[in-house]
Amino acid sequence: MSHYLLMSLFLLVFPKCWASFNTLGVLSEISSQPIVNDLVETPDFIALAAENGFRAEKHDVVTEDGYVLTMHRILPGENCARKKPVLLMHGLLQSSEDFISSGPFAPGFVIAEQCYDVWCGNVRGNSNSRKHISLNPEKDLEFWKFSYDEMGLYDIPAMVDCVLKQTSAEKLIYIGYSQGGGTFFIMNSEKPEYAEKIALFIGLSPNTRNINMKSLVGYLKGVKTFQAELDAFGVWEILRRGSPVTGVLNVLCQNKLVAGILCETITSTIDTPHLESITPEIEQRIWKYIPAGTSVTNLVQFAQSLDSDKFVKYDHGPEKNKELYGCSEPPEYNFTASNVPTVIFHGLSDQFVNTKDLEWFLAKLPNVLDYIQVEDPLWNHLDMSYSRFWNETIFSPMKKYMAKYDYI
Ligand SMILES: *[C@@H]1O[C@H](CO)[C@@H](O)[C@H](O)[C@H]1NC(C)=O
Ligand SMILES: *[C@@H]1O[C@H](CO)[C@@H](O)[C@H](O)[C@H]1NC(C)=O
Repeated sequence: MSHYLLMSLFLLVFPKCWASFNTLGVLSEISSQPIVNDLVETPDFIALAAENGFRAEKHDVVTEDGYVLTMHRILPGENCARKKPVLLMHGLLQSSEDFISSGPFAPGFVIAEQCYDVWCGNVRGNSNSRKHISLNPEKDLEFWKFSYDEMGLYDIPAMVDCVLKQTSAEKLIYIGYSQGGGTFFIMNSEKPEYAEKIALFIGLSPNTRNINMKSLVGYLKGVKTFQAELDAFGVWEILRRGSPVTGVLNVLCQNKLVAGILCETITSTIDTPHLESITPEIEQRIWKYIPAGTSVTNLVQFAQSLDSDKFVKYDHGPEKNKELYGCSEPPEYNFTASNVPTVIFHGLSDQFVNTKDLEWFLAKLPNVLDYIQVEDPLWNHLDMSYSRFWNETIFSPMKKYMAKYDYI
């Protein structure tokens, strides 16, 4: 319970307090200006890769609706035979850096070391993709009117096309973590022609419907309740990297003792603790990059997913739904629209993606090659991203599936 209180404070009381003594202008200023970037030395993706002996590049991608997204690429070693590109897609409130921030054993490095051409995406609105060809994220509410619907419809296809164009490959291997898995299914449902461009989909605890979710329930429902208020006070973006609330965490978590207590507590809030796997040293590293921000609207769609036994589009209420979708209920995504070969990983202690919800959509997917429940009973949601055992636990069973589709 104290965990939920802490998280609620963290997300809701802060903006609410500001709201009570600030005008709209001042508030949106406070909620969006990074104040502590200078206090924590945060190497960007390219510098972090270099620290670990890898060369990396940055690529900009413009979506059909004008969002400018950043992609990061880890170049394969010079003696590598050419393999298929691999696109890694992060989860809620994460960014490309989360695939390399945990240490030398991070997923991005493990995969790149095996000669894959690794691309890490960033969805709209996170700290690396706060850009648009005409909208200003500091001033235009319109910029923030998106949820994971738009990520799946526009961002994922644009990033897939970018990777294929830059590498001249015909297909890629897509690895989606949590929201990065759900958005893949949305792309398939809305743009089934993209199935042609994907050789293999690997889902690390992919997230779809969440009616059985135990974690986050309290605070996500809070966001839904306060949406109108947050909107009115100009809080359209939440948990931006370096903003006052996240900035304080970014700084505090650099202290090993604090990392072991406060930051560990916060990660335990969204998941069961697994201290052996995500150590205080890892907490220190990853909290430089999380949370990386998203729109309030996106969190509201997550909140809606707690109440639906289906995987559906954003619920605007009966009237607007009718106007937009032609029916009063939001329509369901179609899991059978594409036939991409699929491998799913899941851990028994995952409090974010419940086994029941996972197995619900698994039963609908037409081409599942394997469903791997990790043996370690403590394996949780965050381990899929940050565990120091990622290589042994996840990559080791994953690589034989990737090997089938390796060469271009
Ligand atoms: C991952 O494990 C393999 C096999 O044990 C090993 O060869 C490789 O060096 C490991 N990679 C990293 C980045 O630790
Ligand atoms: C889902 O897509 C498949 C393949 O295109 C189609 O046969 C099926 O009718 C669709 N289902 C729904 C509910 O639209």
